[in-house]
Amino acid sequence: MTLTIFQSDEEFFSHNHSALRTLMSEAYEDDFSEEDWLHTYGGIRFVGTYDGEIVTHGAVVPREIHINGQARRVGYLEGVAVSRRFQGRGFGSELMSTISETCAIQHELSMLSTDEFKFYDKFGWRRFEGKSGVVINGAVTLTPDEDDGLMYLVGDSSPSEEIRTAYCDWREGDYW
Ligand SMILES: CC(C)(COP(=O)(O)OP(=O)(O)OC[C@H]1O[C@@H](n2cnc3c(N)ncnc32)[C@H](O)[C@@H]1OP(=O)(O)O)[C@@H](O)C(=O)NCCC(=O)NCCS
Repeated sequence: MTLTIFQSDEEFFSHNHSALRTLMSEAYEDDFSEEDWLHTYGGIRFVGTYDGEIVTHGAVVPREIHINGQARRVGYLEGVAVSRRFQGRGFGSELMSTISETCAIQHELSMLSTDEFKFYDKFGWRRFEGKSGVVINGAVTLTPDEDDGLMYLVGDSSPSEEIRTAYCDWREGDYW
């Protein structure tokens, strides 16, 4: 039996919405809000199945983020999870390997927010060392509490760059 990872289409998603939503709540031990779930919409949804059961999920959603003062379309990673019963078997790594390859091909820059740094750094994600913020009604409010949790991945064809500032647009729930 092997893990099969694929990009979910609308039909798969609508048939399996409730199983995916349950997987998120269970993997995050009920620390996954409705806003967190809504943040997974609008991009590519990666799903992993094992013996017919949905066991992994992760989504890459395009967001406009102002990087060093310039508006950029960034691939933003949301809702990475492995079903609790299947954690520690390498499924999360397989998922992140696939997602990171896609991010590197499709986006000059990708970002995520986490406190599981070691999990992501072996796939090329680097710690953000700049200042983060959110744009509300055209004005930037710094989000210093978020700085430490942000990571980024530079695209395959992009020059390495130093990110001094990253300002996202406002959204319900966590900005980052
Ligand atoms: C984090 C998560 C996706 C990892 O999935 P997994 O299938 O258990 O991970 P793997 O078995 O592929 O392990 C990958 C590596 O990460 C490490 N790891 C796994 N879970 C970890 C965790 N919670 N914190 C830190 N490291 C972790 C493993 O020790 C392993 O290290 P190694 O490669 O040096 O041996 C999974 O534990 C999960 O869904 N957690 C709850 C939700 C969550 O925290 N998501 C990420 C938040 S941004």
